[in-house]
Amino acid sequence: MSGRRADIVLCPAGPMLLRGQHTITDDDGVEHTTTRPVSAVCRCGKSASKPWCDGTHKVLPKKLRP
Ligand code: FES
Repeated sequence: MSGRRADIVLCPAGPMLLRGQHTITDDDGVEHTTTRPVSAVCRCGKSASKPWCDGTHKVLPKKLRP
């Protein structure tokens, strides 16, 4: 192991964490650039602030979590 941290981490039943600067494209083709050292991208599709995770996945039934 190099000791280097991954740039992309998939959280079990939660968001995808992006470390560093990334540009992502949402379902409508709009590009969003990360502005924080670590950004959480919604994977459950229920966030009110897509493409970013707003924590909604935590209250979803297990079968609806990513
Ligand atoms: S993964 Fe967190 S709100 Fe969708």
